[in-house]
Amino acid sequence: MKKQIKIFDTTLRDGEQAPGCSMNLHEKIEVAHRLELLRVDIIEAGFAVSSPGDFEAVSAVAETVKSCTVASLARCSAADIDAAYSALKKAVSPRIHVFIATSDIHMRHKLKLTPEQVLETTERMVRYAKSLCPDIEFSAEDAMRSDPDFLARVVRTAIKSGATVINIPDTVGYSTPQEMRAAIEKLRAAVPECEEVDISVHCHNDLGMATANTLAGILGGATQAECTINGLGERAGNAPMEEIVMAIRTRPDLYPVETRIDISQIYMASKTVYGIIGKTAPFNKPIVGANAFAHEAGIHQHGVLADRSTYEIMTPEAIGIPSNRMVLGKHSGRHAFQDRLSQLGFELSREDFENCFNRFKELCDKKKEVSDQDIEALVRNLLPEEDNSYFKMKSYSVHAGSSEAATAVIALEIGEEVREEVALGNGPIDAAYKAVDKIIEPPEYIFEDYAIQSVSEGKDSLGEVVTTLGYGGRLFTGRGLSTDIIEASILAYVNAQNKLMDYYKKRQAAEAVLPEG
Ligand code: KIV
Ligand code: ZN
Repeated sequence: MKKQIKIFDTTLRDGEQAPGCSMNLHEKIEVAHRLELLRVDIIEAGFAVSSPGDFEAVSAVAETVKSCTVASLARCSAADIDAAYSALKKAVSPRIHVFIATSDIHMRHKLKLTPEQVLETTERMVRYAKSLCPDIEFSAEDAMRSDPDFLARVVRTAIKSGATVINIPDTVGYSTPQEMRAAIEKLRAAVPECEEVDISVHCHNDLGMATANTLAGILGGATQAECTINGLGERAGNAPMEEIVMAIRTRPDLYPVETRIDISQIYMASKTVYGIIGKTAPFNKPIVGANAFAHEAGIHQHGVLADRSTYEIMTPEAIGIPSNRMVLGKHSGRHAFQDRLSQLGFELSREDFENCFNRFKELCDKKKEVSDQDIEALVRNLLPEEDNSYFKMKSYSVHAGSSEAATAVIALEIGEEVREEVALGNGPIDAAYKAVDKIIEPPEYIFEDYAIQSVSEGKDSLGEVVTTLGYGGRLFTGRGLSTDIIEASILAYVNAQNKLMDYYKKRQAAEAVLPEG
C-alpha cells in the first residue's frame, strides 16, 4: 500500500488573511463545504483569538464539518489556546495548532526572547494545549531559516510535551527543493521521536517554489502537506493544493504516495474560492487556469486530435471541468435542476433552491442554453438575506452616449420606503453609483476595485461583477449577476454598500455603549 499524505488546507486561515481575500461567515462555510467534498484531512478554519469574526467562523466550521479534522491557530499563549479550544468545542475531531518562531531573526527582533525562553514556552504551552485537546499541531515559524540544531531541540521538546504533528514552515518562501528535502531528512535523523508523529511542511511561494518545495518535503519524509486552494496566502501565497495533488497523481513514478483528495472536485473548489474573493484564475495558472487545457497551436491541436496523450498529461474531466454543453433549458423542471445541482456538489436549503430555480427560469427566458457555469454562478450569487438588509435595488434607468454625460435614475427600497435619485457621471456605472450614494449617504469609503467577467461563452453570457469598498481598515466585497452588465454592476455595488453599512452601524452601536474617557 502507498504511503498516505495528509492534506491540511489553510485557505480559511493563511489564505483568508492575505489582502483582498477576506470572506464573511457565509462564504467561509461554503469554502468549508467544498473542502469537505474534496476530502481534505484537516481544515484550518481560522485564528480564533484574532477577532470575534474569526472566532465565530472557527465555531461555525467546527459545528458544520463532520468528516475532516478542524483546526484553529493559536500563538504560544494561554489566551490564544483557550480561544482556539473554545471555538473548536463542537468539532467532531478538533486540533489546536500552536506556533512560535524559532529563527534567530524572529526570536531576536519579533519575540524578543532567548532560544532557552522559546524552548521553555514551547514545553509549557504545548503541555497546556494537550491538557485540553488530544490532537496538537506545533509549528516552528520560520523553521527553514532556523539553526537546524536548535530546531531539532524545539521539535524534540514539542513532541515530548504532547504534539501529534510537527510543522516545518518555510514562512518567507526562502528555501529551495534541495534544502527542503534535506531539512526534513536531517530532522528525522536527529529526532527519532518524529516517527511517532506526523511531520508537515508549509511552504510559501515568494520565489515561486512552494509546490516544488512541498513535494521535496514529501520526498524527505513529510507525511502532511499544508496548502490552500488556488495558492492563496500571505504575499505570493502558499503551495496550491491542486498543484501538489495533481503532481502526485500524475507522477507516481517519482512520488510513491497518495492523498485522499477527490480530484473531480478540484475545479469547483477553485471556482468557488475565486468567485468568493472576486477574482478569476490567471489564464495560465496550472491546473485551473483557462488555458491549462487549451491547445492553440496547429501542431498541438493535430496531436491532441490524434491522441490526447501527445500534449495532455492530465484530462480536464479528471479535475471536474464541466463541458460546455447545454445542460438544462426552458423546459427543464425542478427535478432536472435539483439533479444537476447535486451533480455539481450543491446542497441548498428549500428556500435557496426555490430562489435559485426561479432565477434559473428567468435566465432561460434570456438565454437559450444554460450551462454548468451559469448554474454555478446562480448559486454563488444567492446572497444571504442579511447581506442586503439595508437597501435593495428596485429599478434603474441609465442613459449614455458618446457626446453627452451619462445619466442614471436609481430607485432603492429602504425598508418600506422607496427612494429615487438621479445623477450624472463619467459613464453609466459612475452615474449609477453616484445616484446610489445620493440615496444612501454612506460614510466616507475608498472605492478599491471593480471587476467584471463573463460566466460562460457567447454574447448572451451572464456578467458577474464584484465591487470592493474599503472602510475602517476593512474590505467589503459585493457581487451582482445579470445578462445586463449595468444591472450586475448596480447589484454588486448595492451589495457592497449593504455590508459596509452593516459594519458601520454595528461599530457605531458598539462605540455608543463604551464608557466615556
Ligand atoms: O507561514 C507560517 O509560518 C505560518 C505558521 C503560523 C504555520 O503560517
Ligand atoms: Zn503561512
